[in-house]
Amino acid sequence: MGEELKKTIKDMVVVGKGILAADESVGTATKRLASIGVESTEETRRQYRNVMLTAPEIEKYICGVILFEETLHQKSNNSILFPEVLRKKGIVPGIKVDQGLADFNGSAEQYTKGLEGLRNRLEEYKKAGTRFTKWRAVYSVSENTPSEKLIARNAADLAKYAKICQEHGLVPIVEPEVLIDGTHSIDECYKATEKVLKAVFDSLKKENVMLELSILKPSMVISGKEAQNRAGVDEVAGKTVKCLKATVPAGLPSINFLSGGQTPQEATAHLNRMHTLGEKLPWYISFSYARALQDPALKAWKGREENVPAAQKAFLKRARLNSLATMGKYAEEMEN
Ligand code: 13P
Repeated sequence: MGEELKKTIKDMVVVGKGILAADESVGTATKRLASIGVESTEETRRQYRNVMLTAPEIEKYICGVILFEETLHQKSNNSILFPEVLRKKGIVPGIKVDQGLADFNGSAEQYTKGLEGLRNRLEEYKKAGTRFTKWRAVYSVSENTPSEKLIARNAADLAKYAKICQEHGLVPIVEPEVLIDGTHSIDECYKATEKVLKAVFDSLKKENVMLELSILKPSMVISGKEAQNRAGVDEVAGKTVKCLKATVPAGLPSINFLSGGQTPQEATAHLNRMHTLGEKLPWYISFSYARALQDPALKAWKGREENVPAAQKAFLKRARLNSLATMGKYAEEMEN
């Protein structure tokens, strides 16, 4: 099992490359398609996946793709199962294994469902060719949140999930997302993220999860979306790295950020700046974006076959710029 996990980490932690999160649930995919006036059906969702997953030379920038269960069994326009499309390009297919959010003890907060029956589902996902998994927990920032109770519950569940996945030879991506929604300051985000990450790593240790065979997918330390005087690129990059250094053990191989509602340009600029701070980083720092990689492509595509080349071009542009950002080689002028 250890060798299998090691090989997956080796294939997924590659300088200049990152992960595409193409694992929107049916509900989220439906929202994304509605934004371009396209009805969400199994077929339109397949077409949407086909745009990204068959983009020419995606493998230059992307080493892993997180899929949603439905996509595992769907085929490209060339009638090849999507996990196989990826495998042929040397990209590791992965799968979202949590089952979304539910109310937490009648409070305003939400925890993540999906531990029940997880082992059986993992067997199926492995048969379909996936080699890693993802589980997302969310935390809102306000006067009373995130609560200690939710922090403890999510940390315990993330650790249980990670342990079970490693037992099945699947590398776990542990995703604690401190949400950007709200008016909170960057320092409030810092405090919440620090508490959350401390609890997550305490739990992973308690469960004996092998950190060197796990990937962390955190949010950046950033001002709330509706905050006044939102922090700039230097402050976001500096405080994010500071927070990670204070909480994430050096044994972890890779940190792959989510974009969480940042604009595509912001997500790229922030990642790039972390690599130009001049600080020695004990882990590889890269991306695992969904919206920041796909939104421009979605807008260019509009659900029309004739727009696929333009959509793929828009997607590959974001993939390439984020690839450059993982090496600190991105510059704003490259947007034009
Ligand atoms: P965003 O990059 O759009 O935040 O999505 C990442 C993700 O996988 C959320 O679970």
